[in-house]
Amino acid sequence: MAGRPLDRVARRVVGHSLADRETQASELMDDPDCDAEGLRRTYRQFVVVNRLVSGWRGVYVRRLRPLLSAGRTTTLLDIGSGGGDVPRALARWAATDGLRLDITAIDPDDRATAYALSLPPVPGVTFRPCFSSDLVREGARFDVVTSNHVLHHLDPDQTAGLLDDSAALARRLVVHDDIARSPLAALGYWVGTLPLHRRGRPDASFVRDDGLLSIRRSYRPDELAAVLPQGWTVERQPFRVLAVLDRTRGDATDAGSSSSPVPESPRA
Ligand SMILES: C[S@@+](CC[C@H](N)C(=O)[O-])C[C@H]1O[C@@H](n2cnc3c(N)ncnc32)[C@H](O)[C@@H]1O
Repeated sequence: MAGRPLDRVARRVVGHSLADRETQASELMDDPDCDAEGLRRTYRQFVVVNRLVSGWRGVYVRRLRPLLSAGRTTTLLDIGSGGGDVPRALARWAATDGLRLDITAIDPDDRATAYALSLPPVPGVTFRPCFSSDLVREGARFDVVTSNHVLHHLDPDQTAGLLDDSAALARRLVVHDDIARSPLAALGYWVGTLPLHRRGRPDASFVRDDGLLSIRRSYRPDELAAVLPQGWTVERQPFRVLAVLDRTRGDATDAGSSSSPVPESPRA
């Protein structure tokens, strides 16, 4: 199997096997007492990381843009928005295309919302510190619900809650976009973030350590399929895995991407 030698290399270089999903260790940024300046640097560097690895431009072009209109406002909720660069990018792309998009970006971590609000505002993006469950209680609805790099953060109960909430909140489409765990992703990230290896220095961020742990915590497509309720599909992208709930058409399969329906099975 091609994966095994690569996993041995990853274990040597990165220090961990990628064969099984890490579910115990938590990220530095999730520590409420973590260094505040290091956390702000991390949000700042997410912009670069997301631009290089998260693939949102492709998701926007294939999945979101066809739903948007120049004459009618489409509403979008981004859950766990962190520093907010993905919703800002979506708002800019829609504005450039002359399409009306109104985005609510939420994160339960006040530090994330404070950072996002400290940046120059982008028209059409509102940041709120809250959980998706708060919006469900309010009876809010959005045309589209998204998240980036949130699924791997959550324990099984939180994951089930996020999926139920997003299904309740979305009228048309949900896209939860995350890293797909693989030895190659870990090795690539380990090499690519070597310049950010500043642990213990005054200008350190958590992007390298948390990113490597995020890859270890993230799902392979088959593992994600096992935790999705019926009606959701798993879409594979290079180094990415998307959980999609598409109410815009009967057949969720999309040309140009590999997408598999979730079999009827109890949630893991
Ligand atoms: C790795 S960050 C990703 C931030 C941003 N989406 C990005 O791609 O840059 C994960 C974010 O998920 C948020 N988060 C953690 N638990 C959450 C939950 N139960 N519901 C929603 N967001 C959560 C964290 O506060 C954090 O800001």
